[in-house]
Amino acid sequence: MKLSVFSTGLALLLQLAAAVPTPTSDELVERANVVKRATITDAADSGYASTNGGTTGGNGGSTTTVSTLAQFTAAVTDDTTARIIIVSGTITGAQQVRVGSNKSLIGLPGAKLVGIGLFVWKQTNVIIRNIISQDVLAANGDGIGIQKSTNVWVDHCELYSDLTHDKDYYDGLIDITHASEWVTISNCYLHDHWKASLVGHSDNNAAEDTGHLHVTYHNNYWNNIGSRTPSLRYGTGHVYNSYFANMNTGIDTRDGAEILVQSNVFSNCTEPLAALYSDATGYANAIDNDFGDGTNTAPVGNMTATSVPYTYTLLGYANVKAAVVGTSGATLSI
Ligand SMILES: *[C@@H]1O[C@H](CO)[C@@H](O)[C@H](O)[C@H]1NC(C)=O
Ligand SMILES: *[C@@H]1O[C@H](CO)[C@@H](O)[C@H](O)[C@H]1NC(C)=O
Ligand SMILES: *[C@@H]1O[C@H](CO)[C@@H](O)[C@H](O)[C@H]1NC(C)=O
Repeated sequence: MKLSVFSTGLALLLQLAAAVPTPTSDELVERANVVKRATITDAADSGYASTNGGTTGGNGGSTTTVSTLAQFTAAVTDDTTARIIIVSGTITGAQQVRVGSNKSLIGLPGAKLVGIGLFVWKQTNVIIRNIISQDVLAANGDGIGIQKSTNVWVDHCELYSDLTHDKDYYDGLIDITHASEWVTISNCYLHDHWKASLVGHSDNNAAEDTGHLHVTYHNNYWNNIGSRTPSLRYGTGHVYNSYFANMNTGIDTRDGAEILVQSNVFSNCTEPLAALYSDATGYANAIDNDFGDGTNTAPVGNMTATSVPYTYTLLGYANVKAAVVGTSGATLSI
């Protein structure tokens, strides 16, 4: 199938922008909403997941389509055999499912996991793409939990629960802990949840986490969240091209974390970027962001626009909302 990934679209958009008069916001929305096609063998093409040898998931392995919990659990199981798992329809459960190394979990349009926590533990080379995850109870872990693992790419996923239950009824949407490395969270729609994304779980985990937890978040849409978009301890974060709406606290930098925050828009976020809740502060460098009514209070750190070891395209904050709202989430045509 012909590949037409988001970055290609962006490059095209930039070329168009150079050749024609400045597009109106309607035109930008229209272009951004052109359906993105993807192939089941795509490798991570952005952020830290594209480093350290890259993230290819199950590329090269067999392809299997699953539509029941038993089929799904058997296919993603924690062996290291390369496998592409195509998820079809809605699969409902109440458990945590281990995902093994060298796996790609790809949702067909509308594919949804309800109540099933994905757990990537001591694994490497995992892709989770175009999947909707809903209502994972805390007892079954996070929507996606990544621990002691490397090279994980979560792309074009939608994760949510609700804010009507107590904030500990569900855990995180995507939590990345225990010295995990080289993770990219891109083009996701994360919404209606208290504690969205925790990177580094404890102020007492310096020995394990220091020097690890390199995570990129880009082109994501975060809406109606309590906190942690993300919260980052010890690690190195890069957050760009994202739209954040309706939250109490947003990006939280703690325990010496260094974050580069570029080309984002925050709307109705009380504390969009701050160092909160830990005795030891973290740091953040903010470039070209619109903080709305909120204020950036994070101490300035040492990341610059050239600190990251990969190339990336900034939209410019004025173009972020139009490019991200409506296209983030499980919107790929597979
Ligand atoms: C899968 O992952 C392991 C590491 O856990 C790696 O050593 C191995 O080469 C990979 N296998 C395939 C088939 O890609
Ligand atoms: C602003 O965000 C808060 C959540 O932090 C929400 O309760 C409130 O309804 C939002 N206000 C508007 C005008 O959307
Ligand atoms: C940035 O600061 C962190 C501590 O906050 C330190 O570990 C790192 O080496 C520094 N990097 C550079 C390039 O100065």
